[in-house]
Amino acid sequence: MTNNRETPIEIGKEEFRKIGYELIDIISNFYDTINTRPVTTGESPEEIKNILGSSSLPEFGMPADELVSKASDLLLNHSLLNGHPKFLAYITSSPVPIGALADLLAAAVNPNVGANILSPMATAIEKQTVKWLTEFIGVSPTYGGILVSGGNMANFTAFLAARTAKAPGIKEEGFKNTSDDLVLYCSKTTHTWIEKAAILFGHGSKSIRWIPTDAENKMNNEILRHKIEEDIKNGKKPFLVIGTAGDVSTGVVDNLSRIADICKTYNLWFHIDGAYGIPAAVIPDLNFIFNGFTEADSIALDPHKWLYCPLEVGCTLVKNPQHLTDTYSSHPVYYNFSTTDDESSVNYYEYGFQNSRGFRALKVWMALQHIGKRGYIKMINEDIELSKFLFELAKTHTELEAVTQNLSITTFRFVPKGLSSNNKEKETYLNTLNEMLLGELQKGGEVFLSNAVVFEKYCLRSCIVNFRTSRKDIEEIVEIVVREGRKLHSRLQKS
Ligand SMILES: Cc1ncc(COP(=O)(O)O)c(C=O)c1O
Repeated sequence: MTNNRETPIEIGKEEFRKIGYELIDIISNFYDTINTRPVTTGESPEEIKNILGSSSLPEFGMPADELVSKASDLLLNHSLLNGHPKFLAYITSSPVPIGALADLLAAAVNPNVGANILSPMATAIEKQTVKWLTEFIGVSPTYGGILVSGGNMANFTAFLAARTAKAPGIKEEGFKNTSDDLVLYCSKTTHTWIEKAAILFGHGSKSIRWIPTDAENKMNNEILRHKIEEDIKNGKKPFLVIGTAGDVSTGVVDNLSRIADICKTYNLWFHIDGAYGIPAAVIPDLNFIFNGFTEADSIALDPHKWLYCPLEVGCTLVKNPQHLTDTYSSHPVYYNFSTTDDESSVNYYEYGFQNSRGFRALKVWMALQHIGKRGYIKMINEDIELSKFLFELAKTHTELEAVTQNLSITTFRFVPKGLSSNNKEKETYLNTLNEMLLGELQKGGEVFLSNAVVFEKYCLRSCIVNFRTSRKDIEEIVEIVVREGRKLHSRLQKS
């Protein structure tokens, strides 16, 4: 390299190559041994703090090889490993290995995907990725969109597009001249992003109409219709209905075609939060569950959930992408980013919240090609089959109760033998027992589950978005849960 300037930042070609190879060796060994490691070491924040050390900001730099080795050691040996085959908690996937290489390449080139002129190839790749995602889930190619950091942001991005479309004037006047109160509707199972959105965007949490669910835990669409009519009668201004395609707790998909009809009748924006579940629409036999989703004005989906991409990447799709630019576009004099007549030219800063934007599209683009649609169908199907397998094992086990199974989420609980027959006392005890059991399991490091409260039962929850999990893992998880459940129950009985 011909560069006369001496800076503490450069790493010479040979050194970069050597350290890079070493790091790749460390990572490939990590992938290869991930199933032999604990899911988590269970170290407390205090212990982690001590391992990290409390040295002050370094005055002078340190050699890159030492630093890479230090960082690798800290992260590989003291992290919770969501790539572990027995990590089935929340909705964070095992990350696809090609995603790690994609992030390295993206950081090396460092395109700013806010404007086409700053990132010609990266912008084209993001555009193609968004198009492939519409093909993947099977909506019309008229949908366009943008990649964002995750599910919350994907839903927020759509929320504001809905508001711009259904409350004309709000962009210029704000709420000042909106004599009618804008209100919105969603099932009581909707993820917490909606509360954040209503509060942060100035509507207030009372603008949310939480619609109860029916016996199948889907939004009760009769109550939805009734509530909309009541609000209209009372001078409110309904603008948005949110259907969920895979609710965060139990994986239930709302009756989307009914919601679509209701939205048409009352001229409301129909948004689907498919952050978790919508990729399952790729499976031909499951497509019927999502019936009506192609009617949505906007859809949120998360490649960092069931498309197994490394964090962070979500996606907002909008049927008429003009609603995004109507909401987010601005043209300050200091930007020479005007789009050309060439319709391929997109400035992504006009499609969402961010201005400077990283190249998160690359990992999705590479994963979609590395795995292919067929590969995804296989893996998503297998995740669902494993979830059903867990449900069946829980159903037939005398000390487990299987509670729900939808998409790849199973909820169940430990129910020790010989409990008192007083129902209320028993339920209270079971809730406490399972909550404590979850804590023990999470600390133990053998398996990592999360929780769901279903029909007032505190349940253990497994969400399989994990291509490493096998039937053997599921059998072992059942054994671990029962073993730890028995131990805990016996301890509680003694005390
Ligand atoms: C249905 C649903 N929507 C939104 C989110 C939020 O996604 P993120 O954590 O990526 O912001 C989640 C997260 O689990 C979810 O399950």
